[in-house]
Amino acid sequence: MKRVLVAGATGYLGRYVVKELKRQGFHIKALVRSPQKLNRAGEFSDPVIGRDVDEVVEGDITKPDTLKHVCDDVDYVFSSVGITRKSNGLTFNDVDYKGNLNLLKEAEYSDVAKFMYIHVYANDDWKDPGPLIEAKNRFVKVLRTSNVDHIIIRPTGYFSDLTQFMKMARKGRVYLIGNGRASMNPIHGEDLAQFCVKSLSEVNSTLDVGGPETLTYRQIAQTAFDVLGEEEHITHIPAGLISSVSMVMKVISRHNYGILRFFINVMTHDVTAPMYGKHKVREIFHHIS
Ligand SMILES: NC(=O)c1ccc[n+]([C@@H]2O[C@H](COP(=O)([O-])OP(=O)(O)OC[C@H]3O[C@@H](n4cnc5c(N)ncnc54)[C@H](OP(=O)(O)O)[C@@H]3O)[C@@H](O)[C@H]2O)c1
Repeated sequence: MKRVLVAGATGYLGRYVVKELKRQGFHIKALVRSPQKLNRAGEFSDPVIGRDVDEVVEGDITKPDTLKHVCDDVDYVFSSVGITRKSNGLTFNDVDYKGNLNLLKEAEYSDVAKFMYIHVYANDDWKDPGPLIEAKNRFVKVLRTSNVDHIIIRPTGYFSDLTQFMKMARKGRVYLIGNGRASMNPIHGEDLAQFCVKSLSEVNSTLDVGGPETLTYRQIAQTAFDVLGEEEHITHIPAGLISSVSMVMKVISRHNYGILRFFINVMTHDVTAPMYGKHKVREIFHHIS
């Protein structure tokens, strides 16, 4: 039985990965900051996984002392650790880059066979990718030169982020950056987890993946109103205006700038990757309506 260390197990994707690893008979060691979170559902109704993990280790990837020997008895490391919402004073560089680097050093020290890392799908033509993508790129650059085999997964947007469209629609108006004509194929955590676990057989690969349907942001907003049975009210905020706001933000809060820059990029460029999975946006909106 292969043993997998799951870092990020209490997050949206990590919970589904634990479920899928369990289903496929892996031994799961979860590296978490708060073990009690394993026995609660996630923020987006993602599953409770307390009974699925075989071992729990308390640790923080930004604190190397808490990671010592964490990889000693594992075959694979999976990391979906990154800042997605609150930063608690830490930067993307602290967590997405340096934190994952601390974990990689442990993986190298313990001669782990493979390190699977969750990156983000980004087009190379984004003029200013922003600190989030830059931190992840920095880590991936090091991972690719490591003596541990790497599998880098670059997903499009998650369904968890799309819940914002339902929240806005419920309040009566959806705000879109730009003309809403950029498209993407978002992916559900369950589908992405299946893709990740099946991809553990890969060696030194980078894999792009998205969900089974491609929609424009305007279509996603319209689906939210349609599911709620409400008349649609969509406001387009000019991308140039938000870009100017982001430059002011850069001075005030680099973290918020990073988040804003990311959303400007994804909402003004097509973000479509090879399709995988079965979950569709309308079905999930119905589920949370
Ligand atoms: N959301 C998207 O649309 C999207 C798209 C493509 C790629 N991604 C990337 O996919 C990855 C996973 O996303 P997600 O939505 O599953 O994120 P998430 O729900 O925010 O989960 C992040 C996980 O990382 C853990 N974590 C954060 N800082 C940590 C630290 N210092 N030490 C140990 N664990 C730490 C969190 O633990 P706690 O529970 O203790 O906070 C949580 O388990 C992220 O790297 C994200 O950038 C996201």
